[in-house]
Formats: sequence, C-alpha cells, structure tokens
Amino acid sequence: MKFSNTKLIMKQKTLKKLGLLLSIATSFFISPVFSQTPVISLDIAKANKNVSPMLYGLMTEEINHSYDGGLYAELIRNRIFKDSKTEPEGWSLVKDSPSTEADIKLIGAEENVPNDERRNGINGAMQACLRLTVEKADGRVGVANEGYWGIPVRPSTTYKASFYIKGTDRREPPRWPWEPKPTTPPLPVIENNTPGPITVSIESNDGKTVYAKGTINLEKSIYWKQYEVNLTTSADVKPTKDARFVISTNRVGVYYFNFVSLFPPSYDNQPNGFRVDLMQKLVNMKPKFLRFPGGNFLEGPKITDAFPWKTTLGPIANRPGHNGSWGYRASDGLGLLEFLEWTEDMGAEPLLAVYAGYSLDGDHIDAGPLLKPYVDDALDEIEYVIGDTSTYWGAKRAADGHPEPFKLKYVEIGNEDWFDRSNSYDGRFNQFRNAIEAKYPQLTCISTIPATQYPAMKVTSGEEPKVVDEHYYRNSWDMWENASQYDKYDRNGPKIFVGEWATREGAPTTNLNAALGDAAWMTGMERNSDLVIMSCYAPLFVNVSKDSATGKRAWQWDSDLIGYDALNSYGSPSYYVQKLFSHYLGNKIVPATVSNIPLQKAPLSEKDSAEGKTAKSVPTIFYSATMNDTTGALYLKIVNTSPKKQTVKINLDGISKVAPEATIVTVKSNKPTDTNTITDPEKIVPETTTEKGMRKNFSRIFPPYSVTVLQIQTGNSF
Ligand code: AHR
Repeated sequence: MKFSNTKLIMKQKTLKKLGLLLSIATSFFISPVFSQTPVISLDIAKANKNVSPMLYGLMTEEINHSYDGGLYAELIRNRIFKDSKTEPEGWSLVKDSPSTEADIKLIGAEENVPNDERRNGINGAMQACLRLTVEKADGRVGVANEGYWGIPVRPSTTYKASFYIKGTDRREPPRWPWEPKPTTPPLPVIENNTPGPITVSIESNDGKTVYAKGTINLEKSIYWKQYEVNLTTSADVKPTKDARFVISTNRVGVYYFNFVSLFPPSYDNQPNGFRVDLMQKLVNMKPKFLRFPGGNFLEGPKITDAFPWKTTLGPIANRPGHNGSWGYRASDGLGLLEFLEWTEDMGAEPLLAVYAGYSLDGDHIDAGPLLKPYVDDALDEIEYVIGDTSTYWGAKRAADGHPEPFKLKYVEIGNEDWFDRSNSYDGRFNQFRNAIEAKYPQLTCISTIPATQYPAMKVTSGEEPKVVDEHYYRNSWDMWENASQYDKYDRNGPKIFVGEWATREGAPTTNLNAALGDAAWMTGMERNSDLVIMSCYAPLFVNVSKDSATGKRAWQWDSDLIGYDALNSYGSPSYYVQKLFSHYLGNKIVPATVSNIPLQKAPLSEKDSAEGKTAKSVPTIFYSATMNDTTGALYLKIVNTSPKKQTVKINLDGISKVAPEATIVTVKSNKPTDTNTITDPEKIVPETTTEKGMRKNFSRIFPPYSVTVLQIQTGNSF
C-alpha cells in the first residue's frame, strides 16, 4: 500500500507515538488511591440546560473496506476491472481438466489498447474488461471471483447475479494501412463456439461443493449483452465464507466479461443496497446524524481524487469509481444518493462534508477565481440534497428516485484543514461559507480548524464560525485526563462538533480499556452538550480479514468500532458503550457536585521521565446525568476505570420521589485488554438487570473496569 502523502505520513508518526505511549501505559496499571467514599450529588431541580438533540451520530468514509467489502452489499470484487491497471485483481482462471488450454487477461485498463482489443468499451465507466480465451476445452473452464475475502454462503438464500458477456472468435484483427505489421507471428485462429449455456455458480474454493447454480444462454453476437440469473442455496447449506463465484463454459472461443455483480438479499431488500447485519448494527445505535463522505476520503490524495459526487449518481453501471484515500479504489456503488438514503434508513440526518480545495498530498487551491468551480460544485451538491424538484439538481435527485428533499442543517467545509500549511483555509472557508449561506441561509457551515486546537490557523476573517470540528485520537490515559476539558470551555465561543474521536487501544477493533476511555470522554461531552452539539466516533467499520496466502490485512487503521468478515460481524466494547450512551439519554443536563473521586497516576513515557516530568493524576470515576423532563426518567452514567470495585454515594436532590426499582445496564469484564473478536463476538456485551432499593440517597458498588447506566424513575406517583 502506498501512503506517500505528507498528511498520512504525519498521521502514521502520531500513531507510532501513541502506540509507544500505549504500550507503556498498559504495562503500568498503577493502583488508585482510595480513601473516602466518592459522592455524586445531582441537583435535579436545576436541570435547565438542554442536551443537544443531535449529540450522538456516526462518521463514515471508505476506509478499512467500509463500503466495498463492507456495508455495500455487492459481493464481487473488482466488478468493472479497474482496481488494477495490470492485473485482473480478485479474478482467476478455473479449469476442471489439466488438458484444457485457456487463459485470462485484463484488457483495456492501460491507455494503449492493442488494435485487436479495441471496441470492448461498454460506456465511459466500463472501458476495461476481462478476457477468457479457451483454445481447447476439456470440461468446465471459466473465471472465478474471490469476493472480498470470500463469498458469504447462507442457507435458503437467493443471490442476484448479473454480468455483461460477449463471445467471439480469434483471428488476425483488421489493421489500418498506416499501422505497423505485428512483429510476432499471428496466433492460431480460434473458431467462435461461444453461444450456448453458460454456468454461473457459488461454490467452494476448491470447486468441489456447489452451493448454488444457474445458467444463462449466451447468444451469438459480437456485441455486449447483460444477462441476469438468480442463484438459490438449499436449506441445508452450512454458512461459510470460503466460497467463490464462477462463470464457466465448456466451449472454445474468446469470452469477454464486464460489470460482474452478485447481490445477496440486502437491508430492507433495497436494490443496490446495504449488508443486513451491518446496517442493523447501525440502526440499533439510534444515531442522529451521519457525517460523510469523510474524512480523508473526501479530500483524496490529489485534487483530482476528491470525492466525485456527480459520478457517484445514477445507474451503477455508469459509475467509473475513483481513487480512494486509503490505498484502494472505490467502486462508488455506494454514492451520494446511497449515503443520503442510508442516513434516512437510520432515521438520521446527513451532515454533508464538501470538498474545500485541499487534498492529502498537500496541494491546495487558493481562494478566488480558481476556487470558484469547487464552490459551485458544493452548491450543486447541496442542491442535490435539499433542492426542490424545480431546481436542476433537485430534479436530478427526483429522477434518481428520491423526489423528497433530504433534511440538512450542517455543511462541513473540508476536513482537517489544519494539515494545510499554506494557511489558505481562512480564505477558502469564507468563500464557501459566503456562497452557501447566501443561497441557503438556513444552513450552518462548520469550520474544520478549531481555535482551541490550532489557534494560529483558525478562521479569522468574517464572523467567527458558528461550529468548529475538533478531532481526538487518544489513548485511555489521555481520555481520562481530558474527560472534563469541556467543563472549562468558553460558552461564548463556537459550538463544538467532535467530528472524529476514539480511544485507540486494541486492533483491529477496540478493547475494554478503550471503551472505558470512550465512556469517560462521553460523560464529559454529555455533561457539556449545551456546547458539544454533535459528536461521532471514527472509524466506524473495519473488515478484519487477512489474505490467507500473504497475511496482508484488509484494513489500514487500527481500533475501529464494528468488525466483520465476509460472513459475520461484531461490535467492539466501544460499540456497546456508544449504543448505551445514545439509548439512555435525556433531554436535560442534570448538574452535579462531586467529591472524593479517587485518582490514579498515569504512567510516564520514557521521554517524560527523562525530562523529569511528574506523573499526572487522573480520576478513576467519571459520571454524567441527564433526564427526560417529560417522563421523569433520570439517566446516570458512572464509569469505574480502576481495577477495584468502588462504592459511590449518590444523592438525588431536588425531586420529590424516586421509584424503588431501577434499570441497570453494565458493560464490564475482568481485564481491560478483554475484547470481542470475529470468533468470540459477544465476550463483552451490556447486561441489563433491575435493582430494588433506589432512594433519594443511596450507595452502590460499581464493579472494576465497568460502565454503568442507572435508569431511575423520578416523579411524584409511586
Ligand atoms: O478516521 C481516520 C482518519 O483520521 C480520517 O480519515 C481523517 O479525517 C483523520 O485524520
């Protein structure tokens, strides 16, 4: 994988440092100092400040095979043969008999296509294709696709297969008089015997077990034609991902393939839809918004690689795909409309990030006339999202199947523009903001340079941005140390969108210690959600597969929220913490006073020790409390990060009565390094119990390494 650009290199260095700190951190769990019982006193009568209704959302981009090989249900890898310019990646030759003579070749991916291989384009998106040449057929011969680390096979399941195919003979191609004569002797003629049945199957990688099979009848034509066939597995098939997709013949000839597609049933059975288990996990989180399309994926390594939303629209066969930002090409099967529909399916709102003229390799476009086309492009994009059908792009959206405008409140201008060392963001941000807010005064533009983190680079011209995006990738000690940072923020400054954050411990998905870091951090955001109006963890997804031959990983970024392979998926402990925080949330912030919170000393890095720094003390108990002022439900979240159980005295002041029975949900385990994996997906999941004996003043023991939510009913009528 090539990560040549400056931004990525800087990120890798930061991560290395983080890793070093982390390894030191996890090897020194210094025992906390316990003396008096911690006390948390909630003043429920003073629960006046609103919890932001958009507090918890999701962030997404094409990283770690989040879409291709992830949420996007397409099972065929490299379906239009553009993933590599030299090899038909993901494809191989299948022949049942050693005496069959055949080969496969990627055609048309390079600029210079040999004369005999011209005339193979289907449209502007599909210029490359796969050629199967069968010189001698002794039984079955064909092409196989390995999928994204396997094709998932499930019982009683119907898969929709489709592909373009044509069959021809092989003979000397016609040449223009001015073309040079080939220097090699012509290959022997192969007669065209291609018309007839073509078999399509999902089968084991060794070809011995066929899980589902169908046939199409290839017509005699030298032109492309698309064929479709359904493949259904039987009820007694055992689920497996060790399978491949094969299209085969038993006749000589030259066969060409393009746009080979295989869809299993998708979420809500939508065409070109989403993988069911992954979508369900997201829906279960009840997110309020979806930030897309990035992240780095928005920017692209080069200016020409920025998210090309216009070519991600319309029929999928028209989408050329584009260079992603994480070392592999994006099919764009999941394009702008699919992002919006995905958001809608989750009952969330889009938070649209528009490309703002800075790309990862470090190039930027200065504010002024050169930037104008990009600003216009963003205006078009917004029109596609919210324009009514009388507008050009609104009408296009309607033609694409969604006449209703989507909801949109926030537009983010770029991503992490503090990486842009040219200091051009001030001008770029203002050019975008002025144009967007002039046309759409109801929208709020988010700046990606928060003054708190990058004071020297912040937007200074024009009005102060109303919302700024802060990003935090930290280890658990840093999270615990900084969990109360928003308690001290200036309330007269911009609102905060924590657009990317995570406690980065555990790989590929996070472990319990990371979840404890996350939970502590979230208590801080929640207590301050008058200021922190939105937040979203990142990255959301990771394909945890590895190449069986080379061991190469499917992912680029460690410590992710939801892991999966071709067949199964699981939530990390952090996932369950996210779910818990989003489910058990009131609409009012309950203020509290706390005392006697035990501290523990954070380990010093070698460098800090050498510099004679003293270890910082960080709390071991974190809390937040919100309540629903309509139902009277109080949600108290307590995080115990220490290796010991801790008793906490809780006072519920400012209410008349408390129901004696409460719902308690706990995420915990014995070791902070405990985690969920693809083979042990539910080692750490929330446990829900009911507890009696709730009073206005009570003490409760919180287990070691635990996140606990107490849902307590308050009111007068018990
Ligand atoms: O979340 C992974 C990456 O981290 C994002 O693409 C980028 O915005 C951030 O640096």
